[in-house]
Amino acid sequence: MGKMKGWPYTDFATGWYQIGYSAEIKSGEVKSAQWLNQDLVIFRTESGELCALDAFCPHMGAHLGHPGEFGGRVCGETIQCPWHGWEWNTDGTIHRIPYMEDHSISAKLDAKYVRETDGIIMMWYDHAGGPPTYEWPGLPFLGDKADYYPIDWTVDGPHRVKPQFPMENSADPHHFPYVHGSGVDAEFTDYVVDGAFCTNKMLMTFGAGKESTWLTPNGPVDGEIDNFFWGASLGIARFNIDGRICVHLTVLTPIDEDNAIFFSTVTHSKEPGDTGDTPTGIAKKMMDAQHIQIRNDFHIWQNMTYRVRPIFTGEAEKTRYAFIRKHFDKFYPNPVY
Ligand code: FES
Ligand SMILES: [Fe+2]
Repeated sequence: MGKMKGWPYTDFATGWYQIGYSAEIKSGEVKSAQWLNQDLVIFRTESGELCALDAFCPHMGAHLGHPGEFGGRVCGETIQCPWHGWEWNTDGTIHRIPYMEDHSISAKLDAKYVRETDGIIMMWYDHAGGPPTYEWPGLPFLGDKADYYPIDWTVDGPHRVKPQFPMENSADPHHFPYVHGSGVDAEFTDYVVDGAFCTNKMLMTFGAGKESTWLTPNGPVDGEIDNFFWGASLGIARFNIDGRICVHLTVLTPIDEDNAIFFSTVTHSKEPGDTGDTPTGIAKKMMDAQHIQIRNDFHIWQNMTYRVRPIFTGEAEKTRYAFIRKHFDKFYPNPVY
């Protein structure tokens, strides 16, 4: 896929990016990965610590993420290189050189900051190389987390889409009828910013003008969607429709300058009386619908040119769209607003 026309930024935005799910990597497992233009080895030690390191061994350059038939694996709390068996600690320092107990090697692999929260793996990226300046607190459950179904996810790509685009939906009331088939424009509140965190609310009548829909069997319901954004990379929409809560995390994590993998993660409050872990009824339909609905925007994003100075027209675009672009701008190395 080619470059996105008009994109002004010279590097990725600083922030947390999703790189997978905890359930996908068990103790002793090793994976190779490319995220944010970096070749990485990701592994889980025997005690269960998740670790992401630079992929290439400082010794002679083997990729640590491709264990072979005879060498390379997780050894206790270290990862062993498949070429000459050097063992590396999770902080990137050398643990052992099997054929030279007494060595003075100070070479180090770059260790990434990774976190596991609510079953989601996040990795920190800082265009200046710094450590995390905030933490991602996890999914914003309303009420008791135990009353929600386990997370359900879909992953696909690569897409030529920028991480901040799904979040820009919260500033864009006029695209809903055209891209999402909704009967009415949405209404949003102003953004409230606290450091890297930003939030606003969308008010929408679900099932407007219809006697009943699968989502609103008893007629139209005034619902709320709370948006939660961290940096220019993590976005969550939390739906509250008559006390039914659906939490949807969407993350586009770049693999290189132009392409990103899309993670869509959903959970929903359990159906009344349901104590099981398998979504049923409206909850199941709502979770499935989220994965599909968000993808309606992709044909726009993949083919657009990015206008640094769009013709913002009307109150919502002039205030909110301009505002959120300016907010996201702060996380890039070369702000343009
Ligand atoms: S290249 Fe890794 S131990 Fe030699
Ligand atoms: Fe949209």
